[in-house]
Amino acid sequence: MKNLIQFVLFNILILFFLSIFLSSCTFDNEEDLLEDYICDSIGLVYSDLTNIFNGICEQCHGAAISYNGIRMDTYENVRSSVNTGKVVPAINHEPGSPQMPNGLPKLSDCNIKKIEAWINAGMPEN
Ligand code: HEC
Repeated sequence: MKNLIQFVLFNILILFFLSIFLSSCTFDNEEDLLEDYICDSIGLVYSDLTNIFNGICEQCHGAAISYNGIRMDTYENVRSSVNTGKVVPAINHEPGSPQMPNGLPKLSDCNIKKIEAWINAGMPEN
C-alpha cells in the first residue's frame, strides 16, 4: 500500500515537471504571443489608427513635408496612399521597399496587424 502511494506521488511529480517543461518549449517569445493574444484588430475604423498615422507617419508625410508624395494626414490622403500599394510593403520592411517609419523602430506586430486588417476591411472611415 505504501509503495502504491509512493508510485502515484512519483508519477504526479513527473507529470508536473513534464508539463512545465513542455509549456516552456511551446512559446518561444512570450511577449509576441501576449501581444497577439490581446491584439484586437476587429472592426477598426480610421480614428482607431490615427495615433499611428498622425502620431508617427504625418511628421514626414503631411502638409509640410510629404516624402515620395505619400501623405498620411487625413482619411482621404491615407486612403490614396494605401491605394498606391506601397504602404503595406513599407511598414512590413519588405525587401526592395523603403522601411517605414524611416529611421525609427518598426511598428509593433499588433499595429501592423491592425493596419492590414483595416485595409482588408475596405478602410472604413467610421
Ligand atoms: C522620419 C521621417 C519618416 C517617417 C516618420 C515615415 N516616413 Fe515614410 N518615407 C520617408 C522618406 C524619407 C521616404 C522616401 C524613402 C525612399 O524613397 O527611399 C518615405 C517613403 C515612404 C513611402 C513610399 C515608399 C515607396 O515605395 O516609394 C511610403 C508608402 C511611406 N513612406 C509610408 C510611411 C508610413 C506608413 C509611415 C508611418 C508608419 C511613414 N512612412 C513614416 C520618411 C518617413
